[in-house]
Amino acid sequence: MPIRSIVLVSSPEAAILRQRAAAVRRIDRDLRRLLDDMVETMREAPGVGLAAPQIGLGLRAIVVETPLDEDDPERGTRVFRLADPEIVAVSDALAEDQEACLSIPGLFGDVPRHERILVRALDYTGRRVELDLIGFEARVFQHEIDHLNGVLFTDRVTGPDKLYALREAEDGSFERVPCSEAAVAAVAARADLMPTAPSPSAWPR
Ligand code: NI
Repeated sequence: MPIRSIVLVSSPEAAILRQRAAAVRRIDRDLRRLLDDMVETMREAPGVGLAAPQIGLGLRAIVVETPLDEDDPERGTRVFRLADPEIVAVSDALAEDQEACLSIPGLFGDVPRHERILVRALDYTGRRVELDLIGFEARVFQHEIDHLNGVLFTDRVTGPDKLYALREAEDGSFERVPCSEAAVAAVAARADLMPTAPSPSAWPR
């Protein structure tokens, strides 16, 4: 299965990163092959999530791979291959944490996300699934589903000071370096997107 090349914000094809992707609706062999390629591409990068627009396809397909136990990588991972993922409910509680994106190499941001979300999607076999996600997993899903709507993590930060590069210091620690003016302009252009909450905002019980 081939590894696909990743569209960067600096690529000639970058416009696709700002477009709304089309629904998949039906899982067939081609779509499964695409999802498999996306998993390989994500692992090769390496990353924890990838959306189809990032490999130049305007389709609502994402892959996510997260550790089963964040404190114990030996326990392995859980891999999601999904089409038409939709956030149907979000927690009121937000958490801010560091994100990066394979399409924006070198840039990091502190991004507020809902701590818990409910996602409906089609899985690899075409079955409808509902996923109750919290913490890091919820964050990765929000990031990838944003990609399907042409939204990047830089749109979600609350100010330009929340975007930065990281530089390794002599002692091996990482220090923050303010990001470029271009990145600041990108944030300002999409400031209308805050806050992140899709509707409905109430958690169903
Ligand atoms: Ni991304």
